[in-house]
Amino acid sequence: EVPVICIDGPTASGKGTLAAEVARLLGYHYLDSGSLYRVTGLAVRRAGLNADAQHEAEVAALAAALPLQFTEGKVLLDGEDVSDEIRTEAAGMDASRVSALPAVREALLALQQRFRQLPGLVADGRDMGTVIFPDAALKVFLTASAAQRAERRHKQLISKGISTTLDSLRSDLEARDARDSSRSVAPLKPAQDARHLDNSQLSIEQSIDTVLDWWQQ
Ligand code: C5P
Repeated sequence: EVPVICIDGPTASGKGTLAAEVARLLGYHYLDSGSLYRVTGLAVRRAGLNADAQHEAEVAALAAALPLQFTEGKVLLDGEDVSDEIRTEAAGMDASRVSALPAVREALLALQQRFRQLPGLVADGRDMGTVIFPDAALKVFLTASAAQRAERRHKQLISKGISTTLDSLRSDLEARDARDSSRSVAPLKPAQDARHLDNSQLSIEQSIDTVLDWWQQ
């Protein structure tokens, strides 16, 4: 069995940074599952489709046939680099909408599982430990206070020259968490056997060390 480490948690909890760094240190592959929902959201928007239950089959068909490539940390959609475009708050909201459709989740299931390759995989998202890799050897549920998460996202965006306010970011991420937690399919919740890590007061190095310690146990 190819080993898998799952890192699930809410928006802006620092999953991506933590998972990518743990993967790099272990020499494992890395799956940013949110990027798949983000690209699907973008493709849906470009196709002029509505991500509602009425269009579920069409949206899922789009997701199943995404001309996607991951190269050198970039996400290519039909050859076009959309890495920056899928990172905006609006793209996050679009992703959250398409991800609430069961047929879309089903369409992306096998694609995610194909990332499980030797020597191992670190996967981050909302349902890595509960749905996609239920047999993973280590499942981490990463949280941080809403205030902390809004502040980190704020810093990130400012550093990219994108201006927003802390208040609007915080209400955006709380709205997204509420939708992700209350949906009927794969709601955001810790796996029963997940280890909980609240990184509100931890540096990134401390979070990495904690996960590596758990992995070596
Ligand atoms: O993690 P990220 O913020 O990139 O995810 C964007 C959105 O995609 C989330 O708000 C969530 O609705 C959805 N998502 C999901 N399942 C995953 C990863 C992301 O539903 N495994």
